[in-house]
Amino acid sequence: MIDKTSSAIITPLSTLKFSETLTLWQKVHGRNDLPWQQEITPYRVLVSELMLQQTQVTTVIPYFERWLQHFPTVVALAEASEDEVMTQWQGLGYYSRARNLHKAAKFVVNELNGQLPDNAEQLREVPGVGPYTAGAISAFAFNKPAAIVDGNVKRLFSRYFGIEGDISSAKVNKTIWSYAERYTPTVNNRRYAQALLDLGATVCTPRSPDCQQCPIRTSCNAYATGRVDILPEKKAKKKIPTRRGYFVLDLTTDGVILTQRSGDGIWPRLWCLPQILEPLETASIHGSFKHIFSHYKLDATVIIESAEQFGQRIPLEQLDNYGLPTPIRKYLNTLRV
Ligand code: ADE
Repeated sequence: MIDKTSSAIITPLSTLKFSETLTLWQKVHGRNDLPWQQEITPYRVLVSELMLQQTQVTTVIPYFERWLQHFPTVVALAEASEDEVMTQWQGLGYYSRARNLHKAAKFVVNELNGQLPDNAEQLREVPGVGPYTAGAISAFAFNKPAAIVDGNVKRLFSRYFGIEGDISSAKVNKTIWSYAERYTPTVNNRRYAQALLDLGATVCTPRSPDCQQCPIRTSCNAYATGRVDILPEKKAKKKIPTRRGYFVLDLTTDGVILTQRSGDGIWPRLWCLPQILEPLETASIHGSFKHIFSHYKLDATVIIESAEQFGQRIPLEQLDNYGLPTPIRKYLNTLRV
């Protein structure tokens, strides 16, 4: 808990002044040349928002550009095969987002006449679209007054309004959503929503926020009370466990044996070295790699063994035509000299 004796009385800006200040700041200091901010369409916004869940802007940009080349419309995406979708997504991680995006496109084409709705309530019915994404599509694609709350907004609001308590709790989430709704402007919400994300990502950052550059610091509760480094409050993180994994390498001059994984578990539908539960004690080890997932660390060992019965042989030069998990692709690329 935070020591409240240090809190001073500080008044937040009025809702109007708050949104005006952020909007003016965004025009000059915000990000206005991101690819999904050009030629704005609901489909482009949907794609960008799903890609940007859990992934940094700089990583998303090339994927977004390639995706739009490959699936230029929501109809093109709805008609694509799952394999094509997973191949285009490979490397971005969190593959359920790709399946959700595919489902969303099919839903929009089959149930909504190819049109994404403009309001957050109806958008919530689209597969893969949660409360944040619904607000974001309404704001960014349609410039409607919908609230958005993501990690950036949570951090910014918890500091600005001095909101205490575990930031990941349902209680704090509810409090922040109610502030977000109250402070959403009735006009020009596209720029305001972008301002919240930009300020959170570039100034009101998790570590070492740059308060001198912040346009609302003089009315910020955390700034006034010296709690910028304390808010938002976080529960201590659980250490994630490490799991061992064993993969079989069967490599000849004709290529490597790969198998397409099932739709469940890690790396759904991607092509992978066959995975086994445990190798024989006498197995020869070819190498190892590590990979971090959201819930565990994978400590992988690659065993040399015949695996003809587990998959199909693919020439190394053709690997780029298959959707492979990033660590497997990296591992195999080291063999391609
Ligand atoms: N994250 C989610 N949406 C974004 C956007 N429009 N700009 C920057 N980061 C984002």
